[in-house]
Amino acid sequence: MIRRSFLKRSLMAGSSALLAKRGFGAGEPVPGEQASGAVPLSEINKARFPSGFLWGMATSSYQVEGAWNVDGKGESIWDRFAHTPGKIRDGTNGDIACDQYHRYKEDIAILKKLNQKSYRFSTSWPRIQPGGRGPVNPKGLDYYSRLVDAMLEAGIRPFCTIYHWDLPQALEDLGGWPNRDLADYYADFSAILARHLGDRVTVWAPFNMPWTVTYYGYGTGTYPPCRADMGLFLKAAHTLALAQGKAFRAIKAASSKATVGSAYGTEPAYPKTDSEADRAAAERFHALRNVYFLHAAMHGDYPKAFAGETPYEAMGFKPGDEKVMKAPLDWLGIHYYLRLIVSAAPQPASPTLDPMAGIRYEMAREGPRTDGGFEIWPRGIYDLVMRITRDYSHPTIEITETGCSYDDSPDTTGRVSDVRRIEFYRQHLAQLARAIAEGARVRAYHAWSLEDNFEWKDGYTRRFGLTYVDFSSQKRTIKESGHWYARVAAANRLDV
Ligand code: FCB
Repeated sequence: MIRRSFLKRSLMAGSSALLAKRGFGAGEPVPGEQASGAVPLSEINKARFPSGFLWGMATSSYQVEGAWNVDGKGESIWDRFAHTPGKIRDGTNGDIACDQYHRYKEDIAILKKLNQKSYRFSTSWPRIQPGGRGPVNPKGLDYYSRLVDAMLEAGIRPFCTIYHWDLPQALEDLGGWPNRDLADYYADFSAILARHLGDRVTVWAPFNMPWTVTYYGYGTGTYPPCRADMGLFLKAAHTLALAQGKAFRAIKAASSKATVGSAYGTEPAYPKTDSEADRAAAERFHALRNVYFLHAAMHGDYPKAFAGETPYEAMGFKPGDEKVMKAPLDWLGIHYYLRLIVSAAPQPASPTLDPMAGIRYEMAREGPRTDGGFEIWPRGIYDLVMRITRDYSHPTIEITETGCSYDDSPDTTGRVSDVRRIEFYRQHLAQLARAIAEGARVRAYHAWSLEDNFEWKDGYTRRFGLTYVDFSSQKRTIKESGHWYARVAAANRLDV
């Protein structure tokens, strides 16, 4: 029934052949594929994943840990932002969040119960170095050490994202990411982690979504630290590219077992029309939003992302930086939430450093939407994985996040019957299986998220979890989707 309404709503929204198979559209369409993007049941039923495939779930420090000022932790830019009245939609903050700092054993037990093989967590820099540089807080390190041990005991691979947005406020006070010194501070922090955890953690991702950190943090000012200056964005982005390269080497120097990859936010860009201008805009969008930092690591240079010349001077690029940025990642991590429709917009009359000027993008309207408002377009993950596979010579890929927010809550019997989430994952995983069958080397998939948590500016109003969290009691209830995902993880197939 759910599937029927999924199809019906999609078809009512209409279809556009022009959009459907443009741009990223590499492979042949799935036979019988609906214009809405829904995957036929027959495709879902025949989807298979290789044995040893790493089924996982993801979270991040600020979104789940709480304990914001406990055991010597310093303030982060997200603490500062969320404590500023009016910034978070429901007036909340991450002070307690899911209280994972105190309840990590319970959370690891849920992961184990759900047959998970990988847990992607992130470390809070100010918990470990309260001032962002200098003295280490032993209690902070000890927390992550215990967390990692609990995972290993449960047979779960620890996947450590080093930085998921919670910059120490002390470093922002020194100028934040536009200050190139942060590349060294960050590499030092990464080395501290690798020295203390590198005997047990083998999978490291330096940054979660570096584009969001830099463009929205320093360019548009939408996200903390809310500075709105495109010159600062260019500098911040360059510091992150340098930091990525430096951390790559620092981690490997500190731990012989380390493999270093990434966790990039990506949105396949489909040109709005077949015009050359729209296709060029979609390519620039892809170069900026999706592969800017990947390209920097793999090639030691930026991709052709700018309408004019690459603004090296405005970035603060120095001779030799190309060698620092270059870091042949061992594997690539990518998130997929939604696709975007991209077209060319007129360049502004006065000069701008904003590389997104001249690019217009919008969410497509063909597919149905989640409660959080994202269009559901399962094929996007296939197109994305196939393009990255082609463009970067068949790398090992991990899906670091995919997910959907739905408001379902426990019914009178206590069950959380989130059937729309199950449908969402079935569809996306079927498309991922298709990419794998066609040769993409995808070894892991992390659902966002293990549990409902603090969804940044939306506070607790968006529930992405496969486990429901009652934030007043901290009671966890595994949703139907969690139980379903556990069966998928055990069977490596979707018809479970
Ligand atoms: C991603 C973020 C993650 C979470 C999900 C919903 O962009 O990496 O922290 O907020 O969106």
